[in-house]
Amino acid sequence: MAKMKLRYFPDPVLKQKTKRITTFDSSVRKLAQDMLDTMYANDGVGLAAPQVGVSKKIMVIDVTAGDDEDDRRNPIVFINPVIIESEGEMVGQEGCLSFPGVFFEVKRARRIVVRYQNLAGKELKLEAADNLLCRAIQHEMDHLEGELFIDKASSALQRDLEMTKHGFMEGDVEELEQQVKAAGGTIKLHANEPVIG
Ligand code: NI
Repeated sequence: MAKMKLRYFPDPVLKQKTKRITTFDSSVRKLAQDMLDTMYANDGVGLAAPQVGVSKKIMVIDVTAGDDEDDRRNPIVFINPVIIESEGEMVGQEGCLSFPGVFFEVKRARRIVVRYQNLAGKELKLEAADNLLCRAIQHEMDHLEGELFIDKASSALQRDLEMTKHGFMEGDVEELEQQVKAAGGTIKLHANEPVIG
């Protein structure tokens, strides 16, 4: 088991576009395993390579991680993923391993079909709709484009409050809380939210 060092916002690697993987060798398998080890160790359900400082198109997801003490592990490794179908909308809370403690609502497609390659280089397709897997795929794919969930918040105020509370932005937490209340938003507690990664 090899844990990698997580990169946190505003590490510039998080803003870089990643490169396609063209060689499916043991170094890619090792990277995938190290990313999974890192994801499980940090209680995430997903992790994209830029979050461990690697600018390549690979991400891992396991929505069963953390279900139980032994984690019913069912990991999926996505290499060079592309969304080939997308429809509808769903809004839900997201967290990210590169922003510890921060949660807010993000709008995503309700149903997607993603085409990707596995560790053997084989092309596969996966459909996901109305669930955490569907949300996690979209969140991690954004990381591969150098895009972050802070640019997709449903409410900028709610995001700013969370970012300020957790030290990613300068500001007055009380004042932001008042603004969120005034705007009709609720100030939520996020004790049991899954951290997508
Ligand atoms: Ni993330």
